[in-house]
Amino acid sequence: MSLEHSTPHVIAVSSGKGGVGKTFISTHLAQRAVAQGLKVLLVDADLGLANVDVMLGISTKGSIKQMLDGDLLLVDMVVSAKQGFDVFSGDGSFCELSHLTPTQQRVMLDEMHEAAKDYDLVLIDTGAGIGENVLYFISAAESTLIVLTPDPNSLRDAYALIKVLSQKRDVRRFMVAVNQVDESNGRLTFRRLLSLTDRYLDVHIDYVGHMIDAPQVREAIQKQTLLNPSAAPLVTEPLYQMLNTILSRPRDSFRTSGLQFFWQHSLGVKAGSIMQAGD
Ligand SMILES: Nc1ncnc2c1ncn2[C@@H]1O[C@H](COP(=O)(O)OP(=O)(O)OP(=O)(O)O)[C@@H](O)[C@H]1O
Ligand SMILES: [Mg+2]
Repeated sequence: MSLEHSTPHVIAVSSGKGGVGKTFISTHLAQRAVAQGLKVLLVDADLGLANVDVMLGISTKGSIKQMLDGDLLLVDMVVSAKQGFDVFSGDGSFCELSHLTPTQQRVMLDEMHEAAKDYDLVLIDTGAGIGENVLYFISAAESTLIVLTPDPNSLRDAYALIKVLSQKRDVRRFMVAVNQVDESNGRLTFRRLLSLTDRYLDVHIDYVGHMIDAPQVREAIQKQTLLNPSAAPLVTEPLYQMLNTILSRPRDSFRTSGLQFFWQHSLGVKAGSIMQAGD
């Protein structure tokens, strides 16, 4: 796949309600993007259970504290999954991101910029809800993928997340994926969400696809592995279509500088500082 941008496309994968399939979807999107020739970094920014490493059966290396103390480089904390993409896990320390000192912010920015610059796609599994950290990651990423299920609670919480992001963080564009549904119910669930956002919010939401409910998903998660596309084509196909749809959408020209934008925006570091650090 040819690259039109020199910076990674940073996508935050989020949900209002927990347990709707963010980690399942982000790991499989990562796996598929690798198969399409992209270099992918998956960031586990969930403060709850360490999702991504458990799902992939990998161990994380080091902690952000060690990195900020100068004992470790962030690139050395990145672990390669056997599926071909890299994983960076926040090990719970992400909760302190917004409270870092200016020096620590600078270290973080430089380290992230250095670690991410060679990737085409950075997927951030943010965790669920409207907590500060989730809002922080989403408002700083170039694109947001909201995952929900047809469950009315999930719909209500997805709406609440979009509402908070639009009203408090000025995030106006969202991609939406519906999990554990067939194609027609996926569209129906999206339309329910759309009828709410159109009526009450000034946002644009864009349906990027669905994922069926399948026992193979639970089996794969139990085995700490990802679905094998050749063994489960009916299950993986909708996900792969979802990736194609996501990648076919135009990049946001205001937010295309990837992690450079990400860290500058979220940590409030002045533009230009990473130029000196990178060179
Ligand atoms: N398409 C699916 N078919 C069947 N089961 C699914 C599907 N997607 C998710 N699940 C089930 O839902 C559980 C939660 O999925 P996952 O861990 O990806 O959600 P999450 O949104 O990342 O959760 P959390 O908010 O806790 O991080 C899985 O362990 C699996 O059992
Ligand atoms: Mg998760």
